[in-house]
Amino acid sequence: MSKEEKQYFPAGQFQECLRTKRIARQVLWKEETDSTNHWAREYAGSRRWMEEGTDPDGTLFVAEKQTEGKGRQGRIWTSPSGENIYMSLLLWHPDIKPVSASRLTLVMGLSAARGLEKLTGRRAGIKWPNDVVYSGKKICGILTEMRIQEGKPEYIVIGVGINVNQTEFSPQLRDKATSVFLETGKKADRVAGIARVMESFEENYEKFLRTEDLSLMKEDYESLLLNKDRPVRILEKTGQWQGTARGINDRGELLVEDSRGYLREIISGEVSVRGLYTYV
Ligand code: BTN
Repeated sequence: MSKEEKQYFPAGQFQECLRTKRIARQVLWKEETDSTNHWAREYAGSRRWMEEGTDPDGTLFVAEKQTEGKGRQGRIWTSPSGENIYMSLLLWHPDIKPVSASRLTLVMGLSAARGLEKLTGRRAGIKWPNDVVYSGKKICGILTEMRIQEGKPEYIVIGVGINVNQTEFSPQLRDKATSVFLETGKKADRVAGIARVMESFEENYEKFLRTEDLSLMKEDYESLLLNKDRPVRILEKTGQWQGTARGINDRGELLVEDSRGYLREIISGEVSVRGLYTYV
């Protein structure tokens, strides 16, 4: 964002450059929040949108800074001010089974990768299930949360953190994290970045809703999957083993060939996957 835009989200400019029908047509912006995921959940639960007479489905929550950014597995997502993208997309009463909801994390991972490619002109990679990677380092993380009511998702919140203009990382993260700026040497337009990711998500979400799985985007996902045909270490609660990643199935589970040649299905959230010697 330029200097003039620093204090607010340029809603008009964003809507003009956004080519979606439904997704992110309403954007709520804050200079600072604890976590955009938390904010989106709170907004959904508060029913404020009823008084406002708006449809909450597809609302995007964007913040300049998060004071309690959440990562997966209870980790912290460091969220310095004014450099990166911190956003959460609210899907209200999506017509899917709760069991399918976690697959949306992979759908967003693919969409973020494709959106970042459009922004940077450079090819992205995906580390299963949903980390977007440049030069072997993570540039984007995704955290999906859901509330179930009467056996169906009342809402799903997909939180996306993208390192855009961050120029340096802490010594603990330096080997594992990168940003658009560090990859391209140029500051990028965060508003355009959000728009490109949301456009890509809308396209993939429409496909997802037809089947509630990744069958219609599996080929695209696998074409970016850095783990494919590479050795991986599977870290389970009970121990670890090594195999070769072969791709994903329609449910988004990682297919890993074990030492006896059996193809095993790895469910995201239950295990961690690492490269043998590196992060990917
Ligand atoms: C991960 O650990 O890879 C997931 C990181 C998700 C971070 C994003 S930033 C926007 C949204 N709000 C949060 O508190 N977390 C997500």
